[in-house]
Formats: sequence, structure tokens, C-alpha cells
Amino acid sequence: MNRFSDRYALVTGAGSGIGAAIAHGFASEGAFVYVIDMDAEKAQDVAGQIKNAGGEALDIVADVTDGPSVKKAIQKITDHSGKLDIIVNNAGMNVRTDLRHMTDEEWDLVLQVNLVGGARFARDGLDLLRASEHAAIVNLASVMGTRSTRQMSAYSATKAAMASLSRGLAVEYAPYAIRVNYLCPGFVATNLTSRFVRNPFVKDQILARTPMGRFGEPEEIAKAALFLASDDASYMTGSGITVDGGMMAAL
Ligand SMILES: NC(=O)c1ccc[n+]([C@@H]2O[C@H](COP(=O)([O-])OP(=O)(O)OC[C@H]3O[C@@H](n4cnc5c(N)ncnc54)[C@H](O)[C@@H]3O)[C@@H](O)[C@H]2O)c1
Repeated sequence: MNRFSDRYALVTGAGSGIGAAIAHGFASEGAFVYVIDMDAEKAQDVAGQIKNAGGEALDIVADVTDGPSVKKAIQKITDHSGKLDIIVNNAGMNVRTDLRHMTDEEWDLVLQVNLVGGARFARDGLDLLRASEHAAIVNLASVMGTRSTRQMSAYSATKAAMASLSRGLAVEYAPYAIRVNYLCPGFVATNLTSRFVRNPFVKDQILARTPMGRFGEPEEIAKAALFLASDDASYMTGSGITVDGGMMAAL
């Protein structure tokens, strides 16, 4: 399949895990990929891997929590190609602590990375997306947006808000023919979840609650992101797809 030839896709947090898999997925189907991460080395690595595999990519360093940094990234894209068809707001993080120990700074960080950063890209990328005939935004929410576990309340709240933001933007951006959807992954083995995966007790608990009995692979989340970003999802906006090995279906 070559669903993205002549299209330009931006992926935040593309330096590792799910974001890197999404960036590779777009490139393998013909897109030019803007590989955005706050970690310069990781962004460079992923863009380099894409180019080595025959794809097209440009690494851009940006911190989604920093307004001017996001505007600069969009300006770089404007100067480079002046084209943007797809934004994937994937950058995310968690401060794993009980709410009673959480500082205002930690709260603000989780909120800024997981929610406000995505809103910034959706806002600042609007003019470029409006010029596209295939415009789509895909936001990374989580099964944790509707369920939660200990030390995850702030993370869960931001992921529920990301789903809500996606529905709101779907309505707001529909007149510009920009579709906005979101993904709710279950547990995927990445840097973000390595603490769970490394702890045999927690790992077994998660797997016991996952009917398919295994963690997801970043590529399995990427496939759903590519679907939502593609013309295959041309009548979908304001919708979420759960990719969780059956976790949300189980008691
Ligand atoms: N891994 C899972 O099980 C899982 C489940 C549900 C949802 N998600 C969501 O998927 C997304 C990707 O998660 P992952 O597991 O691949 O995480 P990861 O930690 O492997 O990758 C996150 C990337 O985001 C980048 N990043 C973090 N803060 C940033 C900032 N301020 N500005 C720019 N880049 C920043 C990091 O440098 C890193 O490269 C996140 O939104 C996460 O909440 C993950």
C-alpha cells in the first residue's frame, strides 16, 4: 500500500516507542515525515533510519510544552515544504505518584505534554492543514482515559481530556475538511511502560487483565494511527479506536 505518497505528516514524540513506529509507518507508505521530538538525538536517529530505508524525513527538535518552540517547528515546516496533511499528537509522559504527593509543577507538566501540546500543534498547524485536501489529525489518548489504576490519576485525566479535545476539534475543524480522531492503546512495551513491564508482579497483573495475554507492539498501534490518518477513514471524525488486546472488553 502507498496511501500517503505526496503527503506530509508530522509526528510528535516520534523519537521512540509508538511515535517512532508511526513515523516509520507513514514513511513506508510514501509520506514525507517530520520527526518531532524534544530529544534531538532520538529524532535524528529515527529520521536517519527512515532515510536509510529509502524514505523521506526531516528531524525537528521541539518541546510541545513550549509555545514558541511549537511555533518554530511549524515555521520550519512552512519554510521547508509549506505542506502539511497529517498531524499525529503522540508525545506523552507520566509522573507516577500518588496525587497527594504530586507538586503543582508535576501536574502542569503532565497536562502540558499530554494535552496542551497537542492543542498547540492543532492550532498552529491549522493554516497548513487547511490547504490540504486530505487533512487529518490523530491524537494519542489511552484506555487509561476511561479506567485508571493507582498513581495514574493525573495521566488518566489528561488522556480523557485528549479524547474530549479530539471530539471538540472534530466539530470545530469539520468546516475546513480536517478530520480529527483519537486512539486508545492498551499496554504497549515502550520506555513509558518499562517500569510496569520490568516488575514481574505488575506485568502478570496487566497480562491477566488482557484477554490476548500479551502487550501490544508499537507497530500494532501505528497501523490504527495510519488508518485514521488515511482516506480509508474518510467518513470518520470525532471517533476513537481502542487497540488493547481486549482489555476494555474484560471484567
Ligand atoms: N505505551 C503504552 O502502553 C501507551 C498506552 C496508551 C497510550 N500511550 C500513549 O502513546 C504515546 C506514546 O507513548 P510511548 O509509550 O511510545 O512513550 P515513549 O516514552 O516511548 O515515547 C514518548 C516520546 O515523546 C517524547 N516527548 C516527551 N515529552 C515531550 C515533549 N515535551 N516534547 C516533545 N517530545 C516529548 C519523548 O522524548 C519520547 O521520544 C503517549 O501519548 C502515551 O501516553 C502509550
